[in-house]
Amino acid sequence: MLREGAPSALHYRNGILCIEDIPVTRLAQEYGTPLYIYSAATLRRQYHALESNMAGLASRLLICYALKANANPALGRILAEMGAGADVVSGGEIYLAMRMGFPADRIVFAGVGKTRPEMAEGLEAGIRSFHVESLPELESLAEVAAAMGKVAPLAVRVNPDVDAGTHRHITTGTKANKFGVTPQLALALIRQASATPSLNPIGLHVHIGSQLPGVAPIIEATRRVLQLWDILATEGILLRELDIGGGLGIPYRPSDAPEGPDVLARELRPLLARRTLDLILEPGRFLAGPTGALLTTVTYMKEAANAHMLAVVDAGMNDLLRPALYEAYHPVWPITESAIGTGDEIDVVGPVCESSDVLAFNRRLGTLQQGDLLAIGQTGAYGFSMASQYNARPRPAEVLVDGTEARVVRRRETYADLWGEG
Ligand code: LLP
Repeated sequence: MLREGAPSALHYRNGILCIEDIPVTRLAQEYGTPLYIYSAATLRRQYHALESNMAGLASRLLICYALKANANPALGRILAEMGAGADVVSGGEIYLAMRMGFPADRIVFAGVGKTRPEMAEGLEAGIRSFHVESLPELESLAEVAAAMGKVAPLAVRVNPDVDAGTHRHITTGTKANKFGVTPQLALALIRQASATPSLNPIGLHVHIGSQLPGVAPIIEATRRVLQLWDILATEGILLRELDIGGGLGIPYRPSDAPEGPDVLARELRPLLARRTLDLILEPGRFLAGPTGALLTTVTYMKEAANAHMLAVVDAGMNDLLRPALYEAYHPVWPITESAIGTGDEIDVVGPVCESSDVLAFNRRLGTLQQGDLLAIGQTGAYGFSMASQYNARPRPAEVLVDGTEARVVRRRETYADLWGEG
């Protein structure tokens, strides 16, 4: 196991960096860099960890993978086969989830800006639930469903005004955020839906943020949502589905120790005891994050004007946006274990023409030279899925490793992919 950022798909075997049974150098040689690599075993392990910890908490548990974290079809298929559902946020994600093999009745659809065509796509597919986030959205959904002669199952997304204690860009459950509706409005929307023939209110939804250091805010949000649940029950509106969103964190920095599914389950148990409900979780990062790494090659070693050494690598902010966008920290691993923590402090920078294109600051990775390979860890979630072609850089290939086997699960883009015309 690695010393920082664990658990992870990467490990050193005989001092050499490997993913599952394969040295990462072999993958870089075969498929080139920058290259996203994923471990199927790690994905399965993360899913099992969640499922086993949550066992027995509710009459039915559904783990809906948040596709936005990583929508590679190969990863989606593995999770669909394991019995997961999908949390989607666009018509495109409905399309992908269905093609990956997620049954429609395990697909939940969130997002503040669902368009009418997207609603129609969800109704046509027969998805499990629409997570409604405003009155005009509820009205649109009622009209679209009525026009199609269908009844739309829905949950209302509550904004519980709980601070998730995470980065301000990925907190979603406070009054200042665009997501969900106030508890009062949530009650009103459920009442209105239950009086509308083309709507079927089945539950309440809450998601307060991502990469949470602790689960206490999720517990507090759940407690507030259950109060609404009970008020509605006294009015004869019986719900069945409680969706508490995603947000479980993973370790990125050496000092990170986010609370995991074990603590979440322990804290949820008393809240859910004596209740009959279907519990839905929407993990993205927890499942996909530790699964992947980004391999990159040093193009040049350069001394900056202030004498600080830079490793200019062939991956940039277009391939991995998180450091530039959120000042996110990702572990960087040299190929040989003995190099960790040795040599001068360097910054790892990309080739993109932006000052913010710095993938890592002040790392000691041995004596780096042109052509050396590095692995940027914990990049399975919100890595490729946020990649772009900025600076006319074709997006990297993705390779899935399963034991001793590796296969390309998305080909590297070419210059032809940069050209807009068909
Ligand atoms: N459910 C809903 C309604 C969400 O909006 C999200 C994430 C999730 C579930 C999954 O959250 P997770 O389990 O992955 O924390 N790009 C950012 C993260 C944005 C998350 C957006 N919503 C990052 O790179 O950190």
